[in-house]
Order: sequence, then structure tokens, then C-alpha cells
Amino acid sequence: MVDQANKLREMVRNIQQKERVSIQHQLKVLSVVSGKGGVGKTNISVNLAIALQQLGKRVLVLDADIGMNNANIIMGVEATKTLLDLLQDDLSLKDIIVKGPNGVDLISGGADLFYLEKLNENQQEEIIQSLDDLQEYDILIIDNGAGISKHSLTFSILADEVILVTTPEPTAIADAYRVLKAISIYELKSKVKVVINQIHDIQAGEEAYNKLLRTSEQFLKIELEKLGFVFNDIRVNKAIMDQSPIIIKDPKAMASINISQIGTAILGDKEYRYNVSNLKQFKNRLIKLFG
Ligand SMILES: Nc1ncnc2c1ncn2[C@@H]1O[C@H](COP(=O)(O)OP(=O)(O)O)[C@@H](O)[C@H]1O
Ligand SMILES: [Mg+2]
Repeated sequence: MVDQANKLREMVRNIQQKERVSIQHQLKVLSVVSGKGGVGKTNISVNLAIALQQLGKRVLVLDADIGMNNANIIMGVEATKTLLDLLQDDLSLKDIIVKGPNGVDLISGGADLFYLEKLNENQQEEIIQSLDDLQEYDILIIDNGAGISKHSLTFSILADEVILVTTPEPTAIADAYRVLKAISIYELKSKVKVVINQIHDIQAGEEAYNKLLRTSEQFLKIELEKLGFVFNDIRVNKAIMDQSPIIIKDPKAMASINISQIGTAILGDKEYRYNVSNLKQFKNRLIKLFG
């Protein structure tokens, strides 16, 4: 009898311990946004995920570009299941995650993200519970659609950090500024990290960044941080054509080196440890969003 009671107590202790571990699990959520489309968000999200994985982190990518989800194409994997399957077929998050290159995993949100706001309480509960599977990861990268959509702003609220991608083109900079303005007006984040992609020389990158910085300093209440530059590199296009992420296909290419440096900069940030949530906090933010 005593033996059995002891066993039971141990079992309860184990379960409690497991629950504590899961809710305390630290997950860094990065939301990648842009004003203009086609500036390189998906290519950077996927390759950055691999770079971070190579630096020892376990990384999951959420493709949240409604209607134009293509992270799977750049990763060279087929994503057949989406978030909606999780509810309809009673699957867990693990079941809809696709194994990508170099151990980087992918969830395809796709058009199903539209339904997320129409979920009933049970379904919301199911989604929130399924997030326990995120304890397998250290970093979640959300690859958003372009522009100021309700969804990209929502994901930026959920995220610990927002990474804004732009090219040096004046139109892209103007659109990037509009995103910063929305983030600032709605007070979604007090700080945004910026990547200037497809630069032809460092000077063009510096000028583009400074333009964004000056205008933001003048008109917005938001702090910018220069996260890095990525050179315009024909090998990016080649890698995309081959459906093989450039950082794997051509690690010595300039764009690969640049994206690796961005990975190092993210992990090297002295605020990294403070700017991270545990699963419980992440879940609570989602619960608040569900209202
Ligand atoms: N650093 C780069 N050098 C050259 N071409 C690039 C670079 N980054 C992106 N591209 C090109 O831009 C296109 C759009 O990139 P993508 O990541 O799909 O943008 P987004 O997700 O912002 O719409 C790619 O197909 C690729 O041809
Ligand atoms: Mg994209």
C-alpha cells in the first residue's frame, strides 16, 4: 500500500515537474515584416532560421504570408498540412510541422490564418494547448506577408522582436516607414531591428538605414537598431530556382555570409536574455488576442 502511494506521489510530482518545465520554456519569437513585397523577407527568414540552427538553436519557421505562402518553396519541402488541420483532424502541432533542411522545421499558416479569428472557445483552447509542442524549439521565426495587415501587426504583438526588411529603393523605404509608423502609433513595440537587403555597396545600405532612422527619430516614438545588410547576390536567385536555401547551397556566397552575421548579431544581442518569453507568457499574449 505504502509502496503504491509513493509511486502515485512520484507520478504526480513528475507530471507537475513536466508542466513547470513546459510553461517555463524560453522561446524567442521573431516577427519578420516589410512594407513593400518582394524585398526578401522569406529568403531571409528561411536562411536566418538555418543560420541560427547552425549556431546551436532549435528553430521553427511559421509561414504567415496569407495567400502567398512560399517559405516551403525556398526550403524545398512540401507543406501539405496547415493550422486548420490541427483543429479539423484533431492533430497536434507536431503533426502539422514539416521537417525542413538542416533540421529547421516549418508550419504553413497559409490562408487558414484567416479562420483564426473565427475560432470558438474550444478551438482557441485547442490551439493554445497545442503550443506546448513549441518547447522543442528555442526560436520561432514568423515570416509575414508584406504591408500593414491586421495579421502582421498581430504577430508583431506576439513576438519578442520585430525585424523589418527593406531594400534601399526609395519606394521600399517609404513603405518600410509606414510599417514603423503603424507599430509606433499602435505602440506595438518600442524597438524594431532593421535589415537592408539587396544592397550593391555598403554606402547604399548606410544611406538607406540613415534615411529610415532620421525620419523615425523626427516623427515617431520608436527606436531602430541596425541589424545588418545583405548584399544583392545573383546566387540568391539561383538558390531559389534550385529550391535549396543559399546558406546550405552556397555558404560562401556574400548573401549567406551576411545572413549568418545577422544570426550571430541576434544571438549576441546583450538584451537577448531579457527580450524573450516563456511559453506561459506567449500563451497569455495569444489568449489576450483571442479576447
Ligand atoms: N540578397 C538578394 N540578392 C538577390 N536577390 C534577392 C535577394 N534577396 C531576395 N532576392 C530576390 O527577391 C525575390 C523575393 O524574395 P522573397 O524573399 O520572396 O521576398 P518577400 O518574402 O519579401 O516577398 C527572390 O525571389 C529573389 O529573387
Ligand atoms: Mg515572402
